[in-house]
Amino acid sequence: MQSDYILARKSQLHFYKDVPLYTKTSNGFVLYKPEGMTLGGMRLNEARHPHRMYMLKKDKLKGLQEAQKGFNHQLTKNIQSGSKEQIKETLVTMMDETLAEPRSGSLEGVSETIDILMSDYAQESQVVESLWKVSFQDYTTALHSINVMAFALGFAAHTGFNSHDMKIFGLAALLHDVGKTKIDPEILQAAGKLSDEEFEEMKKHTTIGFNILDKCQFNDQRIKLTALDHHEKLDGSGYPNGKSNLSEIAQTIGIIDCYEALTNDDRPYRSAMDPLKALEIIKEDVVVSKFDVKNFEQFAYSLT
Ligand SMILES: [Fe+2]
Ligand SMILES: [Fe+2]
Repeated sequence: MQSDYILARKSQLHFYKDVPLYTKTSNGFVLYKPEGMTLGGMRLNEARHPHRMYMLKKDKLKGLQEAQKGFNHQLTKNIQSGSKEQIKETLVTMMDETLAEPRSGSLEGVSETIDILMSDYAQESQVVESLWKVSFQDYTTALHSINVMAFALGFAAHTGFNSHDMKIFGLAALLHDVGKTKIDPEILQAAGKLSDEEFEEMKKHTTIGFNILDKCQFNDQRIKLTALDHHEKLDGSGYPNGKSNLSEIAQTIGIIDCYEALTNDDRPYRSAMDPLKALEIIKEDVVVSKFDVKNFEQFAYSLT
């Protein structure tokens, strides 16, 4: 018989309020933390909590939504304290958790995260724009997405986007690779060049991402279109559809995506490329009209 209980994710535990938590005993599952209370509210030293706690399977989405609220609250505090390391840590944990269950009802929660990152205080202190500089141990889709988002918000601020477009741009950047959550991790983490077959598999993250976002309640089409089109090129040589008519956002995220992949220093098997060298490589694609020259130049300026 399938259990009605699942293991509760550790990094989310202290955020659960309305989600009850259970422990497993020889007599089965026993209620540990009731609804309406947090673990902290139970006034117990965290170390004294049982190591493993469980929740009802039906509470999974509710739990993730509560955790997202908690992470967003923590993020606001991190921004006020000005610690880039903590901001990034919170963002990476939140995105890891969100991308572990990418579906309607959970992905929309990152909309509030972008609001927080776009708050006047965050913008003035410029903590977000330089987030990509903070190195991290593992290069994951969550980390890559956060770096791309940080570049994108920097680009939007530099280029003078209005706040609505800036928010859409940030969201599209943060969610552009959501389809990768359904790709075999061995292909994603492969150190060398992918075989033709593996590359075909990898390409699917675009359409998968589009389909996931299509079921979400975002009211701007550009978010899901960016997931679909960010590997397309203006000369029609990209994938998955060989399209050449691309939204401004998808084009620019395509450029930022390449730049981030070349310059990040979090991959264990190779060292980061110098920023100027990375721009030179991307410029080769601008020269042959794969990328738009104006977007490229604006991106380069936004880095200074
Ligand atoms: Fe991608
Ligand atoms: Fe990407």
